[in-house]
Amino acid sequence: MKNVVKPGNGKKIIIISFLFIVSVITFASINEIQFNDLSSIRKCAAYSHSEENSLLTMKSSENDIRILIGIPTLPDNHQRRHFLRLIYGTQAVAGAKIDVKFVFCNLTKEDQKILIALEIMLHNDIIILNCKENMDKGKTYTYFSSLPDILKDDSNPINPPYHYVIKGDDDTYFRLPKLVETLMPLPREDLYYGYVVPCPSMDPFVHYMSGMGYLVSWDIVEWIKDSHIPKRHMIGPEDKVFGDWLREGRRAKNRYNAKWSMYDYPEPATRCTHELWPDTVAVHRLKTQEKWVRTLEYFNVTHNLKPSKMYHIP
Ligand SMILES: *[C@@H]1O[C@H](CO)[C@@H](O)[C@H](O)[C@H]1NC(C)=O
Ligand SMILES: *[C@@H]1O[C@H](CO)[C@@H](O)[C@H](O)[C@H]1NC(C)=O
Repeated sequence: MKNVVKPGNGKKIIIISFLFIVSVITFASINEIQFNDLSSIRKCAAYSHSEENSLLTMKSSENDIRILIGIPTLPDNHQRRHFLRLIYGTQAVAGAKIDVKFVFCNLTKEDQKILIALEIMLHNDIIILNCKENMDKGKTYTYFSSLPDILKDDSNPINPPYHYVIKGDDDTYFRLPKLVETLMPLPREDLYYGYVVPCPSMDPFVHYMSGMGYLVSWDIVEWIKDSHIPKRHMIGPEDKVFGDWLREGRRAKNRYNAKWSMYDYPEPATRCTHELWPDTVAVHRLKTQEKWVRTLEYFNVTHNLKPSKMYHIP
């Protein structure tokens, strides 16, 4: 029957094709329902720690505080991403949905196409922006201004997709439960949160939040996309430029200086450093494995490791 269509067979073929299409659609939608069921079951399992009614728990999960942590990296930094997944994948926060995503510009090498695609298939935590890798030429602008379109999903009634968006450094360690704890009492609109620069300053209105990691509420993300102010002031130290936009646009009436819950690692001591202490949201300038390890040890991150006959860690 390949290319040869005998006269008179036309109708038959149309009917057969039609039946075929109908069955494909039916099959696909059944699968989708099954898939949706599966994923909602998985969600319930993840959220319901007790024997609470699973519907109730799912409903309350919609009231969770939603935070996106975008970490700019480069496509080839597989190791760093692997490490950060370890750091963030092991932190759970009740009452919060926190997504960590790695952000870079267009891929530039042939091998990246396959390696990054594989990474996405496994982790689904990568955002590739429409830009060329650059420093101080607008990657931060591209990040924030692209998010509303990237995250727009008409089939998802949850709005905004995130209450807060963070731009974080890849040498910063965020302690997610503490982060959420400090955010809970804060406004979900017009908020700019972080470690104010210069280091001795305690006034979040003078001048801007350090690139170690800062947070804005979703309305500011949308403003960055829509306003003409960022568009005409793009070049320069990105985090300072970010602060300039907010000042010029008279945005971020609500500001929160997270100093000294956020700070640089104690060594080498500067005016930006602080000792490790329990009241920590973020430690920055973790430039070596040794500094990471000492920080993770200090915060007892493996204290919940389950005993098992399969391993023994002294
Ligand atoms: C990035 O890649 C997309 C899709 O391949 C292309 O359309 C776009 O022009 C590229 N952007 C830049 C800035 O190179
Ligand atoms: C880590 O665990 C030790 C021993 O249980 C405890 O004394 C210390 O306060 C804990 N540190 C933090 C930051 O929770």
